[in-house]
Amino acid sequence: MPETATRPVLVRGASLLGERTADLLLRDGVVAEVGERRSLAPGDAQVIDADGLVALPGLVDLHTHLREPGREDAETVLTGSRAAAAGGFTAVLAMANTSPVTDTAEAAERVLDLGRAAGLVDVQPVGAVTHGLAGEELAELGLMARSRARVRVFSDDGRCVANARVMRRALEYVKAFGGVVSQHAQDPDLAGPASCCHEGELSGRLGLPGWPGVAEEVIVARDVMLARHTGSRVHVAHVSTAGTVEVLRWAKAQGIAVTAEVTPHHLLLTTDLLSGYDPTFKVNPPLRPDEDVEALRAALADGTIDAVATDHAPHARHDKEHAFVDAAFGMVGLETALPVVATTMVETGRMTWADVARVLSTTPAAIAGLPGHGAELVAGAPANLTLVDPTATRVVDRDASVSRSRNNPWHGRRLTGEVRATVLRGRPTLLDGELVDPAAR
Ligand code: DOR
Repeated sequence: MPETATRPVLVRGASLLGERTADLLLRDGVVAEVGERRSLAPGDAQVIDADGLVALPGLVDLHTHLREPGREDAETVLTGSRAAAAGGFTAVLAMANTSPVTDTAEAAERVLDLGRAAGLVDVQPVGAVTHGLAGEELAELGLMARSRARVRVFSDDGRCVANARVMRRALEYVKAFGGVVSQHAQDPDLAGPASCCHEGELSGRLGLPGWPGVAEEVIVARDVMLARHTGSRVHVAHVSTAGTVEVLRWAKAQGIAVTAEVTPHHLLLTTDLLSGYDPTFKVNPPLRPDEDVEALRAALADGTIDAVATDHAPHARHDKEHAFVDAAFGMVGLETALPVVATTMVETGRMTWADVARVLSTTPAAIAGLPGHGAELVAGAPANLTLVDPTATRVVDRDASVSRSRNNPWHGRRLTGEVRATVLRGRPTLLDGELVDPAAR
């Protein structure tokens, strides 16, 4: 996107990936200079004092629901962009399950343009795999790819591409332009529409229809074989079970082009939270038992799972505040993703800040084919970055959120790691933890 000239920014004394302290001069949308701590003169630059803060490349979310068009009562591209900037993101992929569905070039361009108008984060549309998410006819994959929106990630997320023939054709089609199909892995015969929580001892006791982990695993097993057969790329959205991790490990060892993401909520929250029937914790795929959470953390640390993606799924009160079986699936997550990863993976010693940069920026940018994002903070790189206070702790307050929705499973929890600033192409979108008014940027 062309930018008008803006004031340079000097980030002083940031710890790059938590490894070495440096000054960064950002000018004309790029990192113009990197120098020793306190070595760069501010001149006319706006100074950000980053002593004690960790600098990461701007975060990239492979999986965001922005709800516009169609459900602006839950979120809009603008309110979701605010939540993204507040969470340290400089790019988000907006899922296609809007109303109308993003299954045409025009629909994709509309989402792109709404993102540009909001101007806080790069909003990259995801295209539907099938027309209307109906699982039958392929959507306009090629036209979306060739549109101004340059769509590269396709997903019927919220629904599984259950038909193997349709999935095969989609994989063949996107291969031509280096695209990827992101699969919501849920076999509809094993986990039908009534399934609303993890199938296990607790679902039996609560009298709730369960969704067994194997419903995810059989689709992932099938899809990695289809990826091998077609020589195309498949991405597994929101991995939730230890069995899926085993399939991924095997597939990667065979050299199959599969990548996978885990959500922050599947890294920390477990199915026992459902014992009070609180629909805040209703999500698809469902929260799983401790053994799965442990397998997901181990897989993220060892690279079997490539990325963390939020599955930010805002819902209006009138869709979420119902009896558990009737409530909508999903939870918000853009503003808390980084603290949840810091709490579960960094504070526990399982990952470094360089690993966090890999799973929340570099790798998701590569999977999505976003060349301006995920770059190491060296001279000449795009000036997309996030500054994090690694030791600050905060009790999450859902009413302090900038998202339009309040279905926040982290409310009342203490998390470590706070995003203090976000910079998109050299312009701060968040400073001292406060959103920057676009007019002032
Ligand atoms: O919990 C979920 N909510 N999972 C999905 O796959 C879709 C999402 C939504 O759109 O609300």
